[in-house]
Order: sequence, then C-alpha cells, then structure tokens
Amino acid sequence: MAKARTYYFCQECGYQSSSWLGRCPECGKFGTFAEEVVKNEKSGIGKEKLSGLSVPKRIQEVSYSDTKRIPTHCGEFDRVLGGGIVPGSLLLLGGEPGIGKSTLLLQMALAVNDRRLLYVSGEESEQQIKMRADRIGESQCELYVVSETVTQRIFEHVDAVKPELLIVDSIQTITTEDIDSPAGSVSQIRQCTSEFQHYAKQTGVPVLLIGHITKDGTLAGPKVMEHIVDAVLQFEGDRNYGYRILRALKNRFGSTAEIGIFEMQGNGLREVPNPSEFLLSQRDETLSGAAVAATLEGARPMFIEVQSLVSSAVYGTPQRNANGFDMRRLSMLLAVLEKRCGFKLGAKDVFLNIAGGIKVNDPAIDLAVACSVLSSNVDIPVSPRYCFAAELGLSGEVRPVSRVEQRIAEADRLGFEKIFISKYNVRSIDTKRYGIEIVPVSVIEEAFRALFA
Ligand code: TYD
Ligand code: MG
Repeated sequence: MAKARTYYFCQECGYQSSSWLGRCPECGKFGTFAEEVVKNEKSGIGKEKLSGLSVPKRIQEVSYSDTKRIPTHCGEFDRVLGGGIVPGSLLLLGGEPGIGKSTLLLQMALAVNDRRLLYVSGEESEQQIKMRADRIGESQCELYVVSETVTQRIFEHVDAVKPELLIVDSIQTITTEDIDSPAGSVSQIRQCTSEFQHYAKQTGVPVLLIGHITKDGTLAGPKVMEHIVDAVLQFEGDRNYGYRILRALKNRFGSTAEIGIFEMQGNGLREVPNPSEFLLSQRDETLSGAAVAATLEGARPMFIEVQSLVSSAVYGTPQRNANGFDMRRLSMLLAVLEKRCGFKLGAKDVFLNIAGGIKVNDPAIDLAVACSVLSSNVDIPVSPRYCFAAELGLSGEVRPVSRVEQRIAEADRLGFEKIFISKYNVRSIDTKRYGIEIVPVSVIEEAFRALFA
C-alpha cells in the first residue's frame, strides 16, 4: 500500500515544503501555501524516464527520421508552432476563460481529417462538444470525444482509441488517483502534466493541454508546468472585439516571434492572413485625430489606426483614457508634446483608442500616437495614405526602430504614399528601392511642421 504524505505547496509557483510557511522563499508571495496529500511516493513527480531505455548515445547516432511534423490544416496555428505539431511533444494552450481555447482546438481537430484524434473534456459533456462542433461546421474527421477527468481512465480510453493526437480540455479539471488534493491544485496539475508528458514521450503521440490563466495574465497553477511542456501558446484578445491573437511564449521547436491572428465569428474562428486590412478602418479624409502606425507584432507587420480625441477639460482635472495603449506611456508622450510643441495639453482631456481592440507593445507606435494627438488638437486631419514608424524620446527626438525595411516594404505593398521614420533609420536603407516616399524626421517638431504647418 502506498504511503500518503502531506506536503505544502505554494499555489503561485509550485514551491514544495514539508511544513507550512507564511512567505514563499521562491516567489516571495505571502499566504500562498496550501496543504496537499501526495500518495504513492514511488511514481513521484518528474521521476519518469523520457524513453524506455536510457543509454547514452553519440549525437551522430541519434536518429529522428520519424519526427515529421503533423500539419494542423490551420495556417495560423501552424505558423505559430513553426510548421505543425512535432510528434511526442506536449503543448499548453493558455488563455482567459471564454476567449475561445476550446473552440480553437476543436476546430483544429475537426480540420485534421487524415488522422485519428481523441478530445478529452473535463469541462463539457459530449453533447456540448457536439453542439459546438455543429456550430463550427460539417467534417469528415475521425475525431473521438469523451468527457472524463481522471488520468487513469483517460489512458484507458487512449488505449482503446489509439489516437494520433490527444487533446485535453483543461488541465485544471483533470486529477490523478495517486494524489488526494482537489483538481486544479499544484500537486495535481504537476503530476497530471508529467503523466501526459510521459505518455507523449513514450508513444510519440502529441498531447495538447488547455490551461486557464488568472486575472493577472499568468497561467493558473504552478509555473513548473511551463517548464515541463515543450511549448506554451497563449490565446488572447479583447472580448468585446472579435479578434484573437495566438502567441508562442515558449517553443522548443520553433520561433516565438510568430503570431497567429483569428477572428471569432458565429461559426467558429476564421483565420486572418492579412491583419492590416481589418485594422485600418475605411475612413474619410476629413477626420482629424487619426494616424496609421506601421507596427510589427512578432515578425509580422501590422498597420494599425490610432485615434485620439483632444478636447478642453470640462471638469477641473483633465481626463486621460487609453484603450490598447499604456497609460503611462501616453502621459509621457503628452508631456513631451507639451514641452516641445508648446501645446497646453495639460488642461485638456485626451482619449486614445487603438482600432480593433489590439494591444500593441511595439514602441514604433509612438510617432503615430503623437501625430494623432496633435492632429486632433489642431483639428487638421492627417492623410490616411501616410503612416508612421518611430519611437519618441523624452526630449522629443524621433528614434529609430527595428526592422524598418520590413515596415517600409509592407507600407509600399498596402499602397501608402508616405512613411515617416527616424532620420537615423534612413541611413541604413536604400530608399530608391521603394515606390513609397520616405520622410525622415529627427525631432517631433519637424513631423508637426511637415503635417500641419
Ligand atoms: P470557448 O472556446 O468556450 O472559450 P474557452 O474554452 O477559452 O473558455 O469560447 C467561448 C466563446 O466563443 C463564447 O463566448 C461564444 C464564442 N463562440 C462564437 O462566437 N462562435 C462560435 O462558433 C463558437 C463555437 C463560440
Ligand atoms: Mg473551454
């Protein structure tokens, strides 16, 4: 009979201790320890070998002829993974509840019609999965579904079905009989994840796990899970808009620079191969306060419209509101504009909105934000055929950005007339190669004069 032992686990980072602690020595959080009973010491965590017999081999002798990637028939998904699912890999798909994780994987499973798949759900019944599948559309796939939460029984189903790809929705609902703690606790998640890893490495069948993320955006459960899996994908987006971005936060078999873009529709997710088209609203030339930013998300150019509204503050304290843009960065840009361009923006309300509900991390959006604020302030429109790609410094200098040639080439392709970039970026490029006019600027006043004077 296996011996039961009690451990205390930090629910934030998975740190294990034999006694209760007030503060986690690993992550420094207070009051995060919870007692969990771990039975069956022998099948302890992380003790399994990755393959049946482990004999050291010379690297030249290691063959990997069977490591051919499995295409998912979903271009955006394959792009993020680096060209399909690697056999024997364990993938984790994270995202907020309701963002579309189950939809994404079910849709992918329905599209793979030349392989046998098993979709295990601990959250929904088979009928609910079928209802969702009907919504997504007809398919001739060989997909088996089962509603199950205990790993031992999941592996029985796996033995019966012999799938070529296993999907588990979600790891927080799965438990193993070896551990008495409730589903979703650190030791359960850790043990179940390593059981799936063991299965994937031994059989070569890839396993896709769905995981929830907490309010502050980290994967719920222990960080250790992220170390066990081969790739961590994150599905994100603003729930009020239909657009969703799939990113790889970690990828052992590919780059993390690629992103996939989807649109949630009534009948499932649609791939968006050309994101700039939806992000640029078809606007009238006579509207002030809008400017187009040539940003890069990962390795992908995305042209995004920035809109702002500057108006006299009605109440004593001016309001600042930014949607899809960092508030502190906006305050900094406003202070720079106030100092360098001499506008009393401190007494005005400023509202900023990034089209499509997309959150942008690329600093190259700065110049477009500044120009859209200035445009709204002076009430003179910026031509919709101009775009901007530069960062702004604290003294109003227009700074160079990475991969400017890729941005220029995309702007050219989308039919823009002018692109405003930093003068320091122009030095390194051959401007004659492009049909688009490249406008170099060194300080924000120069951009202001070129656009509004
Ligand atoms: P879901 O995949 O259940 O989210 P998660 O698994 O991440 O919790 O997606 C839920 C949302 O997606 C739900 O609010 C409805 C919406 N949806 C559509 O808009 N169209 C569809 O075809 C489907 C299946 C879902
Ligand atoms: Mg779900």
